[in-house]
Amino acid sequence: MKIKITWLVILVNSALTSSLFIPTQLPEDATLNYTQLGVKYGHKVEEHTVVTEDGYILTLFRMPGKRKTPVFLMHGSGDSSDAYMLRGNKSMAISLANEGYDVWAGNGRGNYYSRRHVKLDPDTDPSFWDYSFHERGYYDLPAIIDYILEATGEKSLQSIAHSQGTMNFFVLLSSKPEYNDKLKVFIAMAPIAYLHNLIPPVSIIVSIPQPEDATLNFTGLGQKYGHEVEEHSVVTEDGYILTVFRIPSKRKTPVMLMHGTSDSSDSYIIRGNRSLAIYLANEGYDVWAVNGRGNHYSRRHVKLDPDTDPEFWDFTFHERGIFPGQGYDAKRLEPSFLPVALGHVPAGDSKKGLLHHNQAVLSKRFAPYDYGPVKNKKLYGHTVPPEYNLSQATAKIALIVGKNDHLSRVRDVEKLKMHLPNVVKYHVMQENEWNHLDFVWGNDMPETLFPVIFPLFEKYS
Ligand SMILES: *[C@@H]1O[C@H](CO)[C@@H](O)[C@H](O)[C@H]1NC(C)=O
Ligand SMILES: *[C@@H]1O[C@H](CO)[C@@H](O)[C@H](O)[C@H]1NC(C)=O
Ligand SMILES: *[C@@H]1O[C@H](CO)[C@@H](O)[C@H](O)[C@H]1NC(C)=O
Ligand SMILES: *[C@@H]1O[C@H](CO)[C@@H](O)[C@H](O)[C@H]1NC(C)=O
Ligand SMILES: *[C@@H]1O[C@H](CO)[C@@H](O)[C@H](O)[C@H]1NC(C)=O
Repeated sequence: MKIKITWLVILVNSALTSSLFIPTQLPEDATLNYTQLGVKYGHKVEEHTVVTEDGYILTLFRMPGKRKTPVFLMHGSGDSSDAYMLRGNKSMAISLANEGYDVWAGNGRGNYYSRRHVKLDPDTDPSFWDYSFHERGYYDLPAIIDYILEATGEKSLQSIAHSQGTMNFFVLLSSKPEYNDKLKVFIAMAPIAYLHNLIPPVSIIVSIPQPEDATLNFTGLGQKYGHEVEEHSVVTEDGYILTVFRIPSKRKTPVMLMHGTSDSSDSYIIRGNRSLAIYLANEGYDVWAVNGRGNHYSRRHVKLDPDTDPEFWDFTFHERGIFPGQGYDAKRLEPSFLPVALGHVPAGDSKKGLLHHNQAVLSKRFAPYDYGPVKNKKLYGHTVPPEYNLSQATAKIALIVGKNDHLSRVRDVEKLKMHLPNVVKYHVMQENEWNHLDFVWGNDMPETLFPVIFPLFEKYS
């Protein structure tokens, strides 16, 4: 099965080849924000701001409901609150709101809803981006949780997170154990703490690059490893300019590489001859590596020029090129949904976040950021960062995992389960193709996922 999307070419210029093209028929939901989506699907949405102890200003959305206990939804890396909304009437946020829950959706520092700080400017101040999943867990989550409890007058809430959002919770619960009592239950979907059993391409993507390659961009790396690279700019309907790299080739069907869990197209090429982009190019594929809004290649926005000369492109995504790091599930992530998703991800994250993630893979330890022995000694009192103490995470925790998830692997979650003292439910999704993204984007969540999740909210209310 192939997806066909027609692109409108509106401008061609530059040294190599540069074209601005937009999908001619972007679905409406690709362009709506959380508030607009909530309203479209029948709910009132409030926008709140939360300031963390270290000065980040975060956007928090609420759809008020009749039920007393608030439910707090936290997204994964490179993502936003929108993850829980993109399936509209079938989405987690809307489905919970329809059931009368008081639904709160958070946004971690650095994503497009939370690019603000009391002092630092994300565009000019690199220290704004000096964070990883640790800070999102250590500072963002407690600020959000305390805000919700204060606003509702409740003593505790129900919580759910996806992917790296679960890492944020494991950091919080092991580093600030007083927060265990503030959670009636924590449901961890596609949980991540140990990353020992990764398979390619994820295991390749997270490998450390050659030091001399760290300074090269995608184009430079492509050339170094023997390929011509074109730089294209893509403008979305709402005016963001995205950088897309292409390694052209004779094969007709383009392969699109989208960085689902990391920060840019470079994650597919930093391994040089061992990277996915070079591997595919060597095999003769026409490789397109996309950079989503907000990352360092795609930090631009313009108004479209009405005087340009339109031309149509026939653009075919090779289905195996899409989200190769998350596990492929054509049944639940049908082609027509992808433009909706690409209107919202990636939502922005830090480079340090990727590096910290990679450390967790390479060191096989779930620990704070490794700055090297000297700074570690100063910060942590040890030359190696001490592991997060998961036995402090005493909240009631449910772990839910998919068999076709290339990132949150069943064997790694089983290991996590052994380290957590209070696992109230461990569930492997029965569907064989269930992948990393099906937990938020799967088109059959009401039939498959919610029957696992909603009873837990009923039980621990
Ligand atoms: C969502 O979009 C509406 C309409 O453009 C806008 O008023 C609102 O500020 C947006 N909310 C956020 C959090 O961006
Ligand atoms: C969502 O579901 C509600 C209730 O079933 C329905 O009234 C509404 O039209 C649906 N909204 C959309 C945009 O599909
Ligand atoms: C990549 O690096 C080359 C050489 O420094 C530079 O000319 C080019 O503009 C860069 N491309 C992007 C998209 O940053
Ligand atoms: C990459 O592999 C190609 C083909 O095997 C080889 O010719 C080239 O020297 C390698 N490049 C680098 C920089 O290792
Ligand atoms: C981890 O926490 C548990 C429970 O509080 C405690 O007994 C244990 O000593 C801690 N381990 C380390 C290495 O600090």
